[in-house]
Amino acid sequence: MNVLFRGLPGHPLHPPLTDATIGAYTFATLMAVLSRVGVSEHNTATAWWLALITGLALTVPTAITGFADWLYIESGTTLWRTATFHLSAMLTATVVFAIAAGAGHSNYVDGTVGGGPLVLSVIGFALLTLGGWLGGALVFTHGNRVLQLAPTSATPLPKAEEEEA
Ligand code: HEM
Repeated sequence: MNVLFRGLPGHPLHPPLTDATIGAYTFATLMAVLSRVGVSEHNTATAWWLALITGLALTVPTAITGFADWLYIESGTTLWRTATFHLSAMLTATVVFAIAAGAGHSNYVDGTVGGGPLVLSVIGFALLTLGGWLGGALVFTHGNRVLQLAPTSATPLPKAEEEEA
């Protein structure tokens, strides 16, 4: 059961799902801006809204798998604080994107992107970027879910061991 939510050692499920989710929201934000500046306005407005809905749907498995990993982090540690900050940024971004999609449904029908939904999409994207930065820190700074079976060229040996080698 655990494997369904967390993946396998060395192959966690959350990171690949985040690629799809961030891709959908990034595309949505880009489409909103392009629609507003008049690039194929109707088509880009349609693409904006459908990409927002796609991002929201993808957020469900992404958040569930992230939450499953978060449960295994010792609370009160620096890693846990960063993960909790990451969780908060991502959930806030999700709420902002959901409001943009709800408020923008009539814009989708008309083929235009209103000022409010555009601003919300850009704010959601800024929060997503902050959350992505924090998510990256969880892996690349704290090494969460990273297997360290043997030193590699990417993990240089400490000075003393280097001299012996
Ligand atoms: C829209 C929702 C979310 C997105 C887009 C997202 C994005 C990310 C990204 C980009 C990373 C770095 C992974 C990498 O660079 O390969 C990451 C890691 C992580 N995220 Fe999220 N995240 C989301 C929701 C959550 C939630 C709700 C939690 C629950 C606390 C969470 C917990 C984690 C954890 C623990 C990691 C470290 C890697 C791991 O354990 O799998 N994330 N996330």
